[in-house]
Amino acid sequence: MRIAMIGTGYVGLVSGACFAEFGLDVVCVDKDERKIAMLEEGRIPIFEPGLDTLVARHKEAGRLSFTTDLKAAVRQSEAVFIAVGTPTRRGDGHADLTYVFAAAEEIAEALEGPTVVVTKSTVPVGTGRRLQRLFRAKRPDLAIDVASNPEFLREGSAIEDFLRPDRVVCGVESERAHDALANAYRPLNLIETPIMFTTLETAELVKYATNSFLATKITFINEMADLCEKVGADVQQVAKGMGLDGRIGRKFLHSGPGYGGSCFPKDTLALLRSGEQYDSPLRIVETVVSVNEGRKRRMVRKIVDACGGSVAGKTIGVLGVTFKPNTDDMRDSPSLVILPALRAEGAKVQAFDPEGMREAEALLPEVEWCAGPYDAARQADALVILTEWNVFRGLDLGRLHDEMRRPVLVDLRNIFDPLQVTQAGFAYTGIGRATTPAA
Ligand code: UGA
Repeated sequence: MRIAMIGTGYVGLVSGACFAEFGLDVVCVDKDERKIAMLEEGRIPIFEPGLDTLVARHKEAGRLSFTTDLKAAVRQSEAVFIAVGTPTRRGDGHADLTYVFAAAEEIAEALEGPTVVVTKSTVPVGTGRRLQRLFRAKRPDLAIDVASNPEFLREGSAIEDFLRPDRVVCGVESERAHDALANAYRPLNLIETPIMFTTLETAELVKYATNSFLATKITFINEMADLCEKVGADVQQVAKGMGLDGRIGRKFLHSGPGYGGSCFPKDTLALLRSGEQYDSPLRIVETVVSVNEGRKRRMVRKIVDACGGSVAGKTIGVLGVTFKPNTDDMRDSPSLVILPALRAEGAKVQAFDPEGMREAEALLPEVEWCAGPYDAARQADALVILTEWNVFRGLDLGRLHDEMRRPVLVDLRNIFDPLQVTQAGFAYTGIGRATTPAA
């Protein structure tokens, strides 16, 4: 089976490479000539563990190619996947569908025979139906079937998520669309992955409902963490106790500085706009969005409190600036709110991130960038863990202690054992657990 993947962002590139791994012939299309040139040279524009080797292997085997020529790519394909960005539209929170419809127009013009067009981009409910109308209007001569196949991969574990998903959701309305998706995902039958076939609207909504529910779960445990701090309970244990209930599950109950990234903030907002559009209030999601916004500012207070009530004239070391580990993505990272706020309160901020500094430099111009974690701790009055990169878990606490002016650790991801840290001479502030003074 031959498919075209329009868009070589996270979703497009990972999906393209993984479909090649499933044995399909994949041509990835992007308008960005620089990106395509990079990919042709075997360089990967994003940081995603394992993606470079997967791309190289399938490129070598001739199953994966890259082009800027959309026309040629879609003409030779049985199915065309649209995986372009749907960022938040400036000002109103709606998903911006400009790129999706621009791609659809080009596809409509280029196609020469019956084809299935699949949206993999996250698109608001009703978009598939609009695409159907567009294709019927532009190409009444051709059978172009629209399908919705939302993607659930996470940055940092994208390949594993794609190759071994919990489920695949397919919104289809014709046998041809059904068969195209069933064929594309056939290898997953071997590992008995549930492949769900449903309508366009339902598939589109499954995606938003899933992301918004996960964002709700995180926000719920974050508020529980605040209460834990007040009553002397431990949120890690509360989450464990809750999560052992099979109806709740343990995943996505890690409290932290608030969710960020390219999906949860954007998708929760877009779902709210859909709710408004269809006059169906979504008050839980509304609250989640505002609690999560407020949380980043709360984290600033936490850091200031750990520094004795003021950070003016103090040096704050920061470990991790990306919205989560194993990515260089800075989109909607809590660091983009927390670090400028610390600067505004008069702190000097010095930070290190294993992969994110190149992206972060332009976004956080007042931060001093360090070569490693111990440099970020040097002469600092407090060290803040903002992203739970694995390399931070194994840091030599004695060495960190020696580097710092004051041994104050603010662990916004609960990666350290408070007892061990206080024994090493630190004053410790975590999330949803007791603050401990230095031993
Ligand atoms: C998320 C979803 O998990 C994917 O299923 C989905 O496909 C993707 O959005 C998307 O819509 O494209 P991603 O944004 O890559 O994936 O990252 P997550 O691992 O979900 O983390 C999102 C945010 O939640 C991060 O800021 C993370 O630190 C935070 N988080 C996550 C917590 O604070 N606690 C948790 O327990 C889990």
